Amino acid sequence: MVDEERPGAGQWVPETSAVKALAEAAGNCRGCELFRDATQVVFSAGPQKAALMLVGEQPGDQEDQRGRPFVGPAGRLLADALAAAGIETRSVYLTNAVKHFRFERRGKARIHKKPDVGHITACLPWLQAELQAVRPVVVVCLGATAGRAVLGRPVRVGAERGILMEGPEGVAPAQVLLTTHPSALLRLRNAEDREPALGELVADLVVARDAALG
Ligand code: URA
Ligand code: SF4
Repeated sequence: MVDEERPGAGQWVPETSAVKALAEAAGNCRGCELFRDATQVVFSAGPQKAALMLVGEQPGDQEDQRGRPFVGPAGRLLADALAAAGIETRSVYLTNAVKHFRFERRGKARIHKKPDVGHITACLPWLQAELQAVRPVVVVCLGATAGRAVLGRPVRVGAERGILMEGPEGVAPAQVLLTTHPSALLRLRNAEDREPALGELVADLVVARDAALG
């Protein structure tokens, strides 16, 4: 039975292999309820011809307001990690598993709320269309939500990170690499924890860089 509340993005995804057209169409998506409270859709950034695609979870508060992915604190940390891995941020295609910001209001604050599996599934047609349009060499999944979306199964970042995996149907011939989400690093309070965690993220990105860019 089709859930009227959450039909999934499929019917809003145009048949095109142009990212620009996908991004424009995504503004009309009603595939799940998240469009209702969000400011706007946040689609992607970066060149369609990128060899490296990075997939995050969902836009955060600042991304929701500005309409661009990874422009808040997690994005700044990601930019630092990419630079340390010898990757130019503007050379990669950046997107998210879920295209609208999910949050809870606490007073004036909007607190990030993790998307459910149902949101990931509803939004998947956009990511699938992006994979077809960009045809990256390597897809880096930042965290478990992205990993679940791209690999189509539950993942454990700790156990599977940093390894080049064969992409499943719809993703192959691209290879997939799972790593930590930069937000997880921001949640680590002290520098002694953060530094090695950043080192691991950079090391994973180097593996992806070598595979994608040679
Ligand atoms: N976190 C994400 O996963 N994506 C963004 O765009 C910003 C923060
Ligand atoms: Fe559509 Fe995804 Fe936004 Fe839900 S989160 S309305 S599926 S673009």
